[in-house]
Amino acid sequence: MITKPTIDRIMEATDIVEVIGEFVQLKKRGANYVGLSPFVNERTPSFTVSPAKGIFKDFSSGKGGSAVTFLMELEKFTYPEALKWLAKKYGIEVEETVDTTENLEEQNHRESLMIVSGYAAKFFHESLLDTDEGKSIGYSYFKERGFSNDTIKKFELGYSPDQWEAFTGEAIKQGYQEQYLVESGLSVKRDNGALYDRYRGRVMFPIHSFTGRVIAFGGRTLKTDKNVPKYVNSPESEIYHKSSVLYGLYFAKRSIREEDNCYLVEGYADVISVHQAGIENVVASSGTSLTSEQIRLIGRLTKNITILYDGDAAGIKASLRGLDMILEEGLNVKVVLFPDGHDPDSYVQKFGTNAFKTHIEQNKKDFILYKTDILLKEAGNDPIKKSEVIREIVESIAKIPDSIKASVFIQECSRILKIEERSLNTELNKMRQAKAKKDHQQQQNHKPEPSPEDLLFFDEPEEKAAVKESDTQEKEIIRLLLLYGNKMIDWDGIANTYIGPFMIAELSDVEFEQPVTKHFMEIYRQEVENGVLPEEQHFIHHRDKGIVDLVVTLLTTKYVLSENWYEMHKILVSDEQANMKATILGAIFHLKKQKVGKILQKLRDELQTTTGETDQEILLNQYMHMKKVEKTISDYLGSVIIK
Ligand code: UTP
Ligand code: MN
Repeated sequence: MITKPTIDRIMEATDIVEVIGEFVQLKKRGANYVGLSPFVNERTPSFTVSPAKGIFKDFSSGKGGSAVTFLMELEKFTYPEALKWLAKKYGIEVEETVDTTENLEEQNHRESLMIVSGYAAKFFHESLLDTDEGKSIGYSYFKERGFSNDTIKKFELGYSPDQWEAFTGEAIKQGYQEQYLVESGLSVKRDNGALYDRYRGRVMFPIHSFTGRVIAFGGRTLKTDKNVPKYVNSPESEIYHKSSVLYGLYFAKRSIREEDNCYLVEGYADVISVHQAGIENVVASSGTSLTSEQIRLIGRLTKNITILYDGDAAGIKASLRGLDMILEEGLNVKVVLFPDGHDPDSYVQKFGTNAFKTHIEQNKKDFILYKTDILLKEAGNDPIKKSEVIREIVESIAKIPDSIKASVFIQECSRILKIEERSLNTELNKMRQAKAKKDHQQQQNHKPEPSPEDLLFFDEPEEKAAVKESDTQEKEIIRLLLLYGNKMIDWDGIANTYIGPFMIAELSDVEFEQPVTKHFMEIYRQEVENGVLPEEQHFIHHRDKGIVDLVVTLLTTKYVLSENWYEMHKILVSDEQANMKATILGAIFHLKKQKVGKILQKLRDELQTTTGETDQEILLNQYMHMKKVEKTISDYLGSVIIK
């Protein structure tokens, strides 16, 4: 367990805009920041960060919380893992109470897989640098390829000894469980149950998650034998989904944002050499064709992708169609080819950084124009083929969401294809209409994304109508506790009281029904008993996600999210505060009245089914008593609440 003082120190140091800014491009809007949701695919920003409160709210997915919650949601971190990530970022030393059995139990499946992968990376790295075999085979290979010691360290490159059990044996000895060794793919199970190393005699490229944890490996053989696969990669696992990982992204993300461009290459070696040359905004799709998830990962950091292709033309045509997907995501795509026989790695290693940059500047071509060129060359003078080319190009252009950009391409393609702009536009409009119709049909089942203006006044009208009355009233109590619990109120013109403890005392006889509101009340009561008035930050940083969700939802309703809102609705909000007494007592007694109503209903039901005379009398007495309580409450509400 991480100690409370450490947690407090981490929370104090954490700048939520800075943390989330590592993953999402944020723009300032009023007191808040907005950006595109990293959880769903959207074009209109609905993701809001409030630096003042230290919270985010994603109105598309409904997720919300603190910087810690954000990391838990996005990176699927556990609570302690998210805290440690922040501690590392802000240079805070983590104090933990030593209770290893408890810690082990706490670590879930994913965490175990990450831990064993991290251990393996360390093992391979040390074996590269510190063992004779590693030095003479692995290290000298990397040196030959021009990788510096700093690069080898930064990318945690390694070597897996050419033995059956060098890694597996040591891992078992260190207490790592077979289950995780096999699931992570580091070890392979024989039919007889024995384990052996997957990557024998290979140099190792660890693959990092977006936040820098090792989640998989690529192991390259050093043999030239054609029968040996060049790379052996980790299998899919709970922590490694190949389609949503880009090699090098962790090391590239800062630079991608700064340069507002991402270079996309094919292999591990390309990423490393280009990065080492000082061009750090480079990632690889690792041999597979690009997925829309990968494009979205990049799209959160920049809208510009530059694809660096090998000289060999074979793969180029095959990949053309796949690239339309990038257009659909609204990104700008440029393509650069390297001279025959060269890939970005060999080119930059041979000619150096400046020549590499110059080559890119002189050869980069917009994807659509590049595609037009290639297809046209292929079609030659065949008119049928040429009309197919036109169709295909217009199809690509139709995928560009920005219509101004699209019309620029229409102009240029009209020139290259020697076709009138007007006919291209006719074709484009046909495709657009077909697409709009299709989208419309799909959208029937989806709620439209709220506009940024709507967001500031967001108050979940549909959800509210759907929730039960008791739920709403219990939440209203919690909203008031959060907003005013630590404020003083002058009840009778004589003595000031804190609102929080007053409400807690008044509600001591009320049982909350929703598990999460009940839990909130227990926490609040506990804190009050400890002599503390819990602030909203206490709940925002609570380790129970249900509590964080509840609190953030309540804090981002129209009453609090936007300062703008206060201004526009000055009267309403100041009313609430001026009539504080009515507001607080109103909430308490409405809830009580509702609970009493439920008890009365229950007693009525029992009265109808009870036959014994004494039992009936007891029930009747209870009923009369509750009726009186109900009347008292109603009278009270009538006298206090100014409606
Ligand atoms: P390359 O063959 O271009 O590899 O494949 P490379 O990384 O440039 O390696 P060097 O320069 O020959 O050392 C590109 C990428 O395709 C994936 C790897 O991710 C590789 O980096 N790949 C390739 C595999 O996964 N398996 C293979 O057998 C080959
Ligand atoms: Mn290569």
